Formats: sequence, C-alpha cells, structure tokens
Amino acid sequence: MSARRPIVAGNWKMNGLRAAARVLAADVELASGGMPTVDLVICPPAVHITEVEEQVRAAAATEGRAPRVAIGGQNAWDKPTGAFTGEVSPQMLADVGCRYVILGHSERRTLCSETDAVVNAKVNAALAAGLTPIVCVGETLAERESGRTDDVVAGQVRGSLAGLGAAEIARLVIAYEPVWAIGTGRVATPAQAQAVHALIRGLLGSLAGADTAAGVRIQYGGSVKPDNAAELAAQPDIDGALVGGASLDAPGFLAIARAFAG
Ligand code: 13P
Repeated sequence: MSARRPIVAGNWKMNGLRAAARVLAADVELASGGMPTVDLVICPPAVHITEVEEQVRAAAATEGRAPRVAIGGQNAWDKPTGAFTGEVSPQMLADVGCRYVILGHSERRTLCSETDAVVNAKVNAALAAGLTPIVCVGETLAERESGRTDDVVAGQVRGSLAGLGAAEIARLVIAYEPVWAIGTGRVATPAQAQAVHALIRGLLGSLAGADTAAGVRIQYGGSVKPDNAAELAAQPDIDGALVGGASLDAPGFLAIARAFAG
C-alpha cells in the first residue's frame, strides 16, 4: 500500500454521447460516498465537460454535500488563447470546472505526434492555468522486449518535465502506462509496474529532491479492471490508476477506486 493519498482517474477517451455522459457522471458521483481516502477524477471528452460538471454537482447536492469527483480534461494546448483552430486552452478547462488535465497520453504521442518537448510546453501551460497535469509515460512492446523500458521511460520523464523546479514537480501526477497494456487486456504484472514506478520515483528524486519525490503520486494505467486493481494497489509505489475502458462503467470504476481506498 502506498504512503500517499491514492488518486483514481477515469479517462473516457472519445466515448459516450451527451446522454450517456450525464448518466455516467451522476452515477460515479452518487456512488463515491464511503471513500474519503481516495481522490476520484473523471476525464470526459471536452464537449461534455460543462454538463458533466453540472451533473456531478447536482448529484452531490441531492445528498446535501459537495462533489467528491473532480473533473479533468484529456488534453490541452500550450497557450492560453489565440488562433489555434480546434484546440482548447488549459484556462478554458479551468474555467469550466476542471482541476486536472491528462497530458502526453500515448495515444496523443502516437496519433498526434506529440513529442516530449510538446508535452513539456503543455505541462508548463497547464501549471500556469492552475491545473494539475497528469503526465503520461510508457514504453511500447518492442521497447520492452528489447530491454529499453527504463531508458525510454526515463527519457520521457526527463523530457516532459524539463526545466520544472521542485515546487512545480510537486504539483504533478505521473501516470505510467505501458503502451502494450492499453486497451489490450494485457495488464502489467504488479512487479513489472512497481519496478517502473520505483524507477520514476528515483528519477523524480534526482530532479526535485527525495522529499518532493516521496509526495508525487504515480498512477498505473493499462487494462486496470476491478479484478486486478487490488494487487496493483498493494505495491508501495503505485498510488492510483488511470483507467480507460473500465471507467465507462460506474460500478466497475468505483470497484477499482475501492481497491485503492484501502
Ligand atoms: P485501458 O484501461 O482501456 O487499457 O486504457 C488505459 C488508458 O489509456 C488510460 O489513459
């Protein structure tokens, strides 16, 4: 079990029309009670964020309490405003109620050619907007099988966090998502994940000092399901999960969160 407050986030990716998004958001918020020891985040498609935020607030209000579920974006541009057709700024995400933003997801690195330098610019922009970036890193199958996992992940962490001071690194969440485990049903073993999480924490220590590194939460992502969450949560450096497919089902997502709630 990790010493840090766990954080379990649902990355809905490009799934769900408006009606389904409203229901899912409300269901997650209503079921979130009884888990005061874990931070919960949902990251809907950008067009649904406003309504999802309203649904979460309304659901919490029916129980006379504040929302427990925070909202995150799945991506943001690296400028606050301007002529960037089709893009959304971190300030816009914050304005519609987001506290988090996923940056450098492997799907964006692969499909949209996002380099570490691009991710680094976005991390800086998100921090400037007051958001908590969830910075994703992870190796491909070919990289793992050729023994390059540590070098690849370390390179992504160094590149994505280049130039950040300890105070900024302290504000991040890191997500280790091995590309070969995303959407494949092939989850990393707890030992494989723990080894990379420990590597990342060591690297954060060299960048920001051991005290800062000890406080940064590192999520695992890649085929996390209710039936494998507990063994991942038992690892000392796994501080939560970034959940794709299983986050589209409220009971399943909450079961994963419960595994991390201890
Ligand atoms: P899956 O949980 O569907 O494997 O997706 C993981 C992921 O990419 C979360 O960002």
